[in-house]
Amino acid sequence: MASTFEPSNLLSLVEDIKQAALQEQGPNPSAQSHFRLLGLIDELRLAVETPTETVLRLIYQPPQNAALRTVMDLGIFPLLMESGKCGLSAVELASKTGAERGLIVRLMRVMTALGLCASNESEIYVANEKTLILTQPIGRDGIPCIYDLTLPTLAKLPDYFREHHYLAPKEYSKSPMQWAVGQSQFEWLAQHKHRQALFNSYMSSRRHGKPSWFDIYPIERLTTDARDHSEAVFLVDVGGNQGHDLVKFHDKHPDVPGQLILQDLPKVVARSPGEGIQGMGYSFLDPQPVKGARTYYFRAIFHDWPDHICRKILVNTVSAMDPEYSRIIISDFVLPDTHVPLLQASLDIQMMSIGSGVERSERQWREMLDEAGLEVRGIWSGNPGMESVVEAVRRG
Ligand SMILES: C[S@@+](CC[C@H](N)C(=O)[O-])C[C@H]1O[C@@H](n2cnc3c(N)ncnc32)[C@H](O)[C@@H]1O
Repeated sequence: MASTFEPSNLLSLVEDIKQAALQEQGPNPSAQSHFRLLGLIDELRLAVETPTETVLRLIYQPPQNAALRTVMDLGIFPLLMESGKCGLSAVELASKTGAERGLIVRLMRVMTALGLCASNESEIYVANEKTLILTQPIGRDGIPCIYDLTLPTLAKLPDYFREHHYLAPKEYSKSPMQWAVGQSQFEWLAQHKHRQALFNSYMSSRRHGKPSWFDIYPIERLTTDARDHSEAVFLVDVGGNQGHDLVKFHDKHPDVPGQLILQDLPKVVARSPGEGIQGMGYSFLDPQPVKGARTYYFRAIFHDWPDHICRKILVNTVSAMDPEYSRIIISDFVLPDTHVPLLQASLDIQMMSIGSGVERSERQWREMLDEAGLEVRGIWSGNPGMESVVEAVRRG
């Protein structure tokens, strides 16, 4: 089976991978070199695969997700972790989970082929270095949460577009999810308590091990000249879920002057957010009640919403900002004009589906902020796996 690449190109790609791998294993591996290595590996796979193999790989992605979701339901990965090096047989897994042995075998073929556990003996499954993460919040809660939240809509997305003349949705209340299942994301989550709990857990865990916004943004821009009196507010995390980002911020910068305030929908924010942090139920569709804070911080908020709602959220914030003092800090993806990483491009489709949201390019961010009366002061970018940080001030 011939691949589409010249052998010489293939070998030079392999050489590039070797160099990138040496850097990854060297004394100073960086996030950039890590993503470059992953990008080269993707290129190599595409180079080696025949076009037919590429199509088949894509066609058979949905059953992989469904099998994984089922294995999560059965609680198989925690059982494999507990069983250590000996692992568990299909018969043992069947007796522990109540599923038919034959079904276990069929599901676990997919799991081992995906590399999520090992099976070197017939019908014996052993945890490997990927299994642990599937038992931790990001995998344990993120996989069922995002599957249940998105799949029913994604399955119908082509029908939605056929019926809507291939126009990108522009209203949260008329999102593809609203059309497909009768609710958009936040109403659906509010009505499905267990899924909301999984969502909150996934939100707080999904950036584990990655730098925070204050690791890539020069925080002195906010701490220098920050007001220091009992009423002063240093940071409002707007839509901060249950406070995971603020807790990290407080741990790293315990001595910043002024209060730290967590805002989210009343049902989400109810739990005590953590020491030194004040929780406040608030909808960002209403005017911001905390006036003149140093920082209004929004992480992964605007990608949930179409432009006109984002403008409303921004205008609600601008009305509370002190033009001489306050800044908006946005942490979201800023899409490059070409070579958008697959994760970011895929997330854009997901956000569009569940609430008519958008992942935006630098031009889109600048236009939207400008229309809300804000001026961009800088954009700091980490690596392709994480959001950029945009700083803006009230114009005039
Ligand atoms: C994608 S999550 C991001 C959470 C957090 N900022 C993060 O980056 O992990 C979006 C958050 O917006 C909150 N949210 C949705 N609608 C809201 C509203 N009208 N007012 C305030 N928060 C809202 C949700 O409850 C959720 O916590």
